[in-house]
Amino acid sequence: MEYWEKRFLDGGKIWGTEPSQTAKYALELFKKHGLHKILVPGAGYGRNTKLFSDSNLGVVGIEISESAINIARSFNPKTQFFQGSVLDMPFDDVKYDGIYSCNVLHLLLKDDRILFLKKCYNQLKLNGFAFFAVFSDKEKSFGKGKRIEENTYESKPWRPTHYFTEFDLKEHFKEFTVIETGIIEDHENHGDLGPHSHILRYIFAKKK
Ligand SMILES: C[S@@+](CC[C@H](N)C(=O)[O-])C[C@H]1O[C@@H](n2cnc3c(N)ncnc32)[C@H](O)[C@@H]1O
Repeated sequence: MEYWEKRFLDGGKIWGTEPSQTAKYALELFKKHGLHKILVPGAGYGRNTKLFSDSNLGVVGIEISESAINIARSFNPKTQFFQGSVLDMPFDDVKYDGIYSCNVLHLLLKDDRILFLKKCYNQLKLNGFAFFAVFSDKEKSFGKGKRIEENTYESKPWRPTHYFTEFDLKEHFKEFTVIETGIIEDHENHGDLGPHSHILRYIFAKKK
């Protein structure tokens, strides 16, 4: 929590005001399947929730960092935020049509990833949809830093990252019906790294 609080206090809108490519693709899928109300765990300062709420979806975000939520309040006032950990979900008793989560699942260690996905499953309506984007094993930083668990490395101090193969991602979603998986390249420009790309893996799945 301290890591993220400091990042948002120092960096503000770290990843800019444009949504992730993964959010643009998720929005296409959500429209195709007629979704109305979505939950966004680990929503940050709202660069992706803004895309969804501007497209007239009802959006609720969950975010651990108070500073990120403070930025979101002016940047994306249409989204309602709960402050807290995704591991403490649910924060309401709503069953959602869909869940979108970008670059959050890979920050958790194995037991917490399973707990988080179980909580997401429980917050979906029957036949609700989940779209998750995560770091893949094709990322440049894969294998760098201290090894914490299988395919999990502390590439930055205090921030373990799990790198997903396609098989591993599908295994994480075995309680769901997997509709599709793939790779999306996301461009960013921040901090010491300057312009760079992330090779993200996504999964689109349905609650059974
Ligand atoms: C890499 S950032 C991605 C933010 C946002 N999804 C985006 O794409 O702009 C990860 C986000 O997850 C939040 N986060 C990390 N661990 C969390 C947890 N356990 N519960 C809720 N949010 C968490 C961080 O504060 C940060 O906003």
